[in-house]
Amino acid sequence: MRTIAEHFLFPNADISHERLRKTISGKTIAITGASYGIGEELALLFSKHHVHLIVIARTENKLHALAETISNNGSKCTVIAADLYLESEVERVIEDLKKLDSIDIFISNAGKSINRSLEDFLDRYHDFTRTNSLNYLAPVRLLLAITPQLRAANGQIINVSAMNVLLPPAPKWAAYQASKTAFDQWSRSNWAEWKAMGIQAKSIYLPLVRTRMIAPNENYKNYPALQPGQAAIRVARLICSRSNSSKPWWAVVAQAAGFFGAALWKKYSFYRISRQYDK
Ligand SMILES: NC(=O)c1ccc[n+]([C@@H]2O[C@H](COP(=O)([O-])OP(=O)(O)OC[C@H]3O[C@@H](n4cnc5c(N)ncnc54)[C@H](OP(=O)(O)O)[C@@H]3O)[C@@H](O)[C@H]2O)c1
Repeated sequence: MRTIAEHFLFPNADISHERLRKTISGKTIAITGASYGIGEELALLFSKHHVHLIVIARTENKLHALAETISNNGSKCTVIAADLYLESEVERVIEDLKKLDSIDIFISNAGKSINRSLEDFLDRYHDFTRTNSLNYLAPVRLLLAITPQLRAANGQIINVSAMNVLLPPAPKWAAYQASKTAFDQWSRSNWAEWKAMGIQAKSIYLPLVRTRMIAPNENYKNYPALQPGQAAIRVARLICSRSNSSKPWWAVVAQAAGFFGAALWKKYSFYRISRQYDK
């Protein structure tokens, strides 16, 4: 049951299936992180429109079950089970992607989020190497390798990003926010060069989405959040549109508050955090 706040903040979006069919039918679409959450919803949505889906993630049995549903829905599916934390596995994914006749749309969606205090991070450097590997370096490596295929197809790149990338940094989110921001900056830096090659690079800045990713955080149980199917519809709308980015309707208000209220935000962050530390 959606709350009043969710109705207000995340009004139900719809997609014209006719328009989606015209945009993606017959195309090859690679989705990282397709085994759960937003990626899985995207694969299911696209599978109704005669596409070839390349689904990439670690949980092989989930990917094979998804592939069966995709084929029952009339599309083709190739499963690539890989751990994108590992460079060797990223290289193996590239070998498989290079074998494809074409790649029309690449959706960089696999991601890991961590919410942890600096004190708890002190002996957990691996949290930073892992979030960086998955949220930043793996999609960079994959895109460097497949840019020629995307160029040949006049393709699209979709960066599944987060609203907090557009807002002032928040305590306890250093690993997630730094890695998501790094990839966002990297892809936006390349935007003009990709465009000159005929590739459209687009980013979607999602708010909280009710997936496995936020489940461990007790606080989020009562926060307004988007449903994963609705997040997938928003990604599909972005693919069909000429726009380079998609954000919630209230993002501009949040960004303006972040810009003009930066000093206040710092004071508030310090006030909340300082109560947890004995100097
Ligand atoms: N949920 C939110 O509130 C929210 C908000 C803004 C943006 N986003 C972004 O949305 C994207 C999708 O997140 P989600 O909410 O759908 O989370 P999710 O349900 O946890 O799904 C994450 C996906 O990434 C894959 N993945 C994780 N680690 C991987 C690894 N080492 N190698 C390969 N694949 C890996 C997972 O598959 P396996 O475990 O099978 O590998 C899964 O398919 C992420 O980029 C996230 O940053 C989410």
